Amino acid sequence: MPVTIHDEINQLREQLNLHNYRYYVQDEPSIPDAEYDRLMQRLKQLESQHPELVTADSPTQRVGARPLTAFTQVTHEMPMLSLDNAFAEADMEDFNRRILSRLDYPVGTQIEFACEPKLDGIAVSLLYEDGLFVRGATRGDGTTGEDITQNIRTIPSVPLRLRGEGFPRRLEVRGEVYMPREGFEALNEQARLQGQKTFVNPRNAAAGSLRQLDSRITAARPLQMCSYSVGIVEGGTLPGQQDQMLKQLAQWGFRLNPLLEVVSGVAGCLDYYQRILAQRDQLGYEIDGVVFKVNDLALQQKLGFVSRAPRWAIAHKFPAQEELTQVRAVEFQVGRTGAVTPVARLEPVFVGGVTVSNATLHNMDEIARLDLRVGDTVVIRRAGDVIPQVVQVVPERRPEDARRVEIPENCPVCGSHVERVQRVLRSKSGARVEEGAAYRCVGRLSCKAQRQQALIHFASRKAMDIDGLGEKIVQQLVEADLVQSPADLYRLVPAQLEPLEGFAKLSASNLYEAIQSRKTVELARLIYALGIPDVGEETARTLALSLGSMARIREALPDTLTWLPDIGLEVATEIHNFFHDESNKEALDDLLDMLEKVEETGELSSKQASIASLAQLLERVNIKGVAKVGAERLAEHFGSLEAVLTADADALAAVPKLSAKAVKGLLSCIADVAWVERVQSLEQQLRTFGMHWESAPAHTSADNEPLADQTWVLTGTLESMGRNEAKAYLQQLGAKVAGSVSAKTSCVVAGPGAGSKLAQANKHGIQVMNEADFLDYLKQQGIDLA
Ligand code: IVH
Repeated sequence: MPVTIHDEINQLREQLNLHNYRYYVQDEPSIPDAEYDRLMQRLKQLESQHPELVTADSPTQRVGARPLTAFTQVTHEMPMLSLDNAFAEADMEDFNRRILSRLDYPVGTQIEFACEPKLDGIAVSLLYEDGLFVRGATRGDGTTGEDITQNIRTIPSVPLRLRGEGFPRRLEVRGEVYMPREGFEALNEQARLQGQKTFVNPRNAAAGSLRQLDSRITAARPLQMCSYSVGIVEGGTLPGQQDQMLKQLAQWGFRLNPLLEVVSGVAGCLDYYQRILAQRDQLGYEIDGVVFKVNDLALQQKLGFVSRAPRWAIAHKFPAQEELTQVRAVEFQVGRTGAVTPVARLEPVFVGGVTVSNATLHNMDEIARLDLRVGDTVVIRRAGDVIPQVVQVVPERRPEDARRVEIPENCPVCGSHVERVQRVLRSKSGARVEEGAAYRCVGRLSCKAQRQQALIHFASRKAMDIDGLGEKIVQQLVEADLVQSPADLYRLVPAQLEPLEGFAKLSASNLYEAIQSRKTVELARLIYALGIPDVGEETARTLALSLGSMARIREALPDTLTWLPDIGLEVATEIHNFFHDESNKEALDDLLDMLEKVEETGELSSKQASIASLAQLLERVNIKGVAKVGAERLAEHFGSLEAVLTADADALAAVPKLSAKAVKGLLSCIADVAWVERVQSLEQQLRTFGMHWESAPAHTSADNEPLADQTWVLTGTLESMGRNEAKAYLQQLGAKVAGSVSAKTSCVVAGPGAGSKLAQANKHGIQVMNEADFLDYLKQQGIDLA
């Protein structure tokens, strides 16, 4: 038990510093966040009662200073140097040769190098006096930087007081402040939601965050700091090797890059380079190369500097992930669902390891956000295997004749009208239609681009799985006007196929047979094959299993669809619109005529009995002031929808404990004919469908679904089966299979070549199975693997 306030304060600070260090430097938290918060609250309370006991290194002081009006300048006592770059192996050989010759070492001597990733952030200098953090500065031009002490204090991985003992009286630690990818993505996502400008890359985000005059802003940014060298060392000594010196800094509380290694000679460096390059995309932060430093500090001293760079260190750069190039044109592509998407045609540029000549611009809003014009010089970024992106326009390089980009009025492929997609947003205050960011060609199957994409999708493996009907053949069929819609595929005869390029008698008859053999299909596959916007395999499966028949799916109202798991209003509206479009209706009727059998898997038997309860219905039809409890009270009191809809003010006043707001909300709904009709048709449909919406699809039972409620992620390639097969097994066991790892992920199956998803899983401590484990598990669950 602490005896004095002073003791208690000290103990709290010690504990908080320790937990901070465990969490932010070692990545090994040892107490729950809530406990940390309690300790912090207590310390804040004591310090506010005893302001005379507040010290600069108290964990409460990370944010606290008032905003500055400007940064003051700092002259570095020892200049902060930069590094020479190596771009190729030959540059590394030269670097090594120069070192050996300067040291008068025989050619072939293997000297030791300390290797680290080159972090893509901002170099900083942190000054400690008697173990206390007294000043943080940017590198600036190497001689003069800016005083960013207040901002540096907010970075949790920077110790405000050195841990342990034995540190020099004055010690300047240098390192990099950077923003891990995850934090960067989250920050940008937040900015997007708030309609603010996003950062181009993590480096800019880190730089922008450090440049804030108000340190509270910096404090809210997910920054990290790793140390990689020292400057001033007075009144004490450090170990004589680079790696040992860094490990000593770690003892005093700094974060080090865990990939630090000591290797021997150039061969060791090149090997390290390759190994880190291979991991580049999986790291949680961006790096632009690796840095090699002669490990022996005495040798470093001997080698000294030339102009602004040390002779004993070099940065071996990775291929750039960002390059400048020019936009030659912006063209519009038409996709399967008619979406008209702008694509930038670029002056070819080598970036991220490939030559890039096109980049999607996503939609017109994106063009507006970038303020992109034809002729502009842009920054192209291709990181990892992500598709190339235009991240920024360089405004200074805009030519006089740069042209604005307009959405075409007519489809560039079929000439049909191009319309702006409307989004339906529904809230308690009613439905609202808003202009979406997307445009769509209204041509449907009469548009060759849509027809071709729709047919390719229709025939693809996860859809109708028509063997041999690939992209090239579909293209020919469309070009030759042999096929106007999916139904036409079934009308093709071998004689029509034979004249196509690459076809002969046998191949024509094989394709014919392949098409004819796919006249019986499961409902879920067929729904997926239709290519309804936003309806992937999972949603198709939900529709098939929950509604059970094509007829019901076609009829389902948007409101009914939103009762199904994971179908929101937007998707529900897309589905409804798709089936109510005249040309789609016709094409579907025609297709159903051509098919022999649609296997309807939904067995809406016993569980149908649970018609949606009145309370559930009332809760969901946007009555202002009526939530779950209010809906239950109404349902209990009135007993039927009819009674609710015909109630008047007096009748509502008689409902026990119903709020005045709910009464008002309901009265105004009842007065609204459209609303009443909507609710009546919904009830009607739920009844006739006999729908069961509370839990998993109707045909399944929890007993044979050990993975019900679980979400699994597949990554990398499995050798023994395709990803779809693995997915099907998991779904059979009741799991949902997602495309990305989140906190909700239950398990990740990682095959060889697994990348960032595996890293994510490890980071979140999510269970990971390799292929062998996965196969064992499937067998245990009674899945018969051929
Ligand atoms: S050592 C005299 N090590 O690269 C040696 N620098 O181009 C000084 N950098 O300004 C730097 N990661 O911002 C070193 N592991 C690392 C580094 C690193 C990133 C940056 C640093 C420096 C720039 C030099």
